[in-house]
Amino acid sequence: MLDDQDRRIPTLNDWLRGRHALTGVAPEWDLDALPAEPTVLFHEWMLRAAADGVAEPHTATLATVDAEGVPDARTLILKGIDGSGWAFASTRSSRKGAQVAQAPAAALNFWWQPQVRAVRVRGRVEEASAEESAADLAARSRAAQEGIAPGDWVRWRIIPSRIEFWQGSRDRRHTRVVYEPLGDGWSHSVSGD
Ligand SMILES: Cc1cc2nc3c(=O)[nH]c(=O)nc-3n(C[C@H](O)[C@H](O)[C@H](O)COP(=O)(O)O)c2cc1C
Repeated sequence: MLDDQDRRIPTLNDWLRGRHALTGVAPEWDLDALPAEPTVLFHEWMLRAAADGVAEPHTATLATVDAEGVPDARTLILKGIDGSGWAFASTRSSRKGAQVAQAPAAALNFWWQPQVRAVRVRGRVEEASAEESAADLAARSRAAQEGIAPGDWVRWRIIPSRIEFWQGSRDRRHTRVVYEPLGDGWSHSVSGD
């Protein structure tokens, strides 16, 4: 006889089996007109996600590894993109703060369901200047600044070694565009999977 706990497991698994994914509507994507800079394409995709109703398109999953190489991940906010990287911010005393101090590399994933679009950014992590971190903290609401010890708030940047733009398709002919640094600029390649 199944007790209540055992009963819930097959029910959830049945429910999961019946779920569909990639149910959004992929916009037209002209692969012959890809920009040379990945940040230009990201900007375009982010604005499209916002325009199509993604409530918080700037939230992402940040993955890091600990000293033993065990991965960790959490949701956070993309604070900006500048010439040198993709910025996020948190406290140095946090778990992620300790992890990037020990292993300065990270990955950042975005998923925008209505457009069937996902973006993956990975690379090394560097700390912004103390002035930039202080400015980042000062830009937060007063309530969000409370409880943060002086000097604990840090802005970091991921300096990408790879950026992947992925767009799903109902017919399963998905499209993947990968940008990688090349000289002073970027190379990009297109594949379908
Ligand atoms: C939508 C959303 C946005 C968040 N934004 C941030 C953020 O910008 N910075 C941050 O430190 N934590 C943010 N958090 C909290 C983190 O997910 C996480 O719980 C916290 O930073 C502790 O992570 P850690 O223990 O891996 O350091 C956010 C959570 C959510 C759900």
